[in-house]
Amino acid sequence: MTDSTTKTFEDAWQLAEGIKGWMTRGQAEMLWNAASALGPGQSILEIGSHCGRSTVILGTAAQNVGATVTAVDPFVEGRLFGGPSTRSIFEGNIERAGLNDVVTLRAEYSTQLRPQWDEQIDLLYIDGKHDYWTVTDDLRWAEHVPTGGNVLIHDCFSSIGVTSAILAHVAPGHSLRYLDRSTSLARFEVGTPDAADRRRILAQLPWWARNVGIKVLLRARLNGVAEKFGHTGTADPF
Ligand SMILES: C[S@@+](CC[C@H](N)C(=O)[O-])C[C@H]1O[C@@H](n2cnc3c(N)ncnc32)[C@H](O)[C@@H]1O
Repeated sequence: MTDSTTKTFEDAWQLAEGIKGWMTRGQAEMLWNAASALGPGQSILEIGSHCGRSTVILGTAAQNVGATVTAVDPFVEGRLFGGPSTRSIFEGNIERAGLNDVVTLRAEYSTQLRPQWDEQIDLLYIDGKHDYWTVTDDLRWAEHVPTGGNVLIHDCFSSIGVTSAILAHVAPGHSLRYLDRSTSLARFEVGTPDAADRRRILAQLPWWARNVGIKVLLRARLNGVAEKFGHTGTADPF
């Protein structure tokens, strides 16, 4: 049911588009659709919120359906992520989007929070630290998602760390089925994968190799060569 307070994807994208971060419009639509499929009282857990670009999309969809979002981010220091000042930017963006009642921030490392967590999660979004060990641990949050629930993973096929964890734990595993992707944001469902599901993960590896190759070219300042592979701009592919 919709009423005058229900927001559309366009409304949400307008709120999120100007927020610094790493999420394409297509990826925002994938997050939006997954969150919009939830119902009242259901919950989303996001690992890695940065300035709130993806949180605003998840939060606005959650607000429409009466769900909530827990955003987990310790706001790590560094050139890329900015440290504690990023927390103020995140909080400002959540407030401006009217999501203070929907989004709860846990300013902690996902790996430290996970062992204490005992609540059901209806939609899990993983976009925190991208090394193999952290992603391996973050995948264990899916143990809180019931069968049929979605697990979305950013940079699933554009990062050596994330993709190695997927190949080591998801492709041979028994609890996540690969569904589809928007560039490198991949959607999985909690459930038993069959051989075809596993093959479809392996079929994404040429796309992963292309993205890693582009990262190498960008570091070698061979942007012109990267353009020949369809990559424009100086940011890494995601
Ligand atoms: C790629 S950014 C997230 C981007 C965000 N989802 C967006 O749409 O713009 C990664 C974030 O993960 C956070 N991070 C790093 N290690 C983390 C961890 N162990 N748990 C949760 N977040 C972590 C960083 O502070 C950073 O803000």
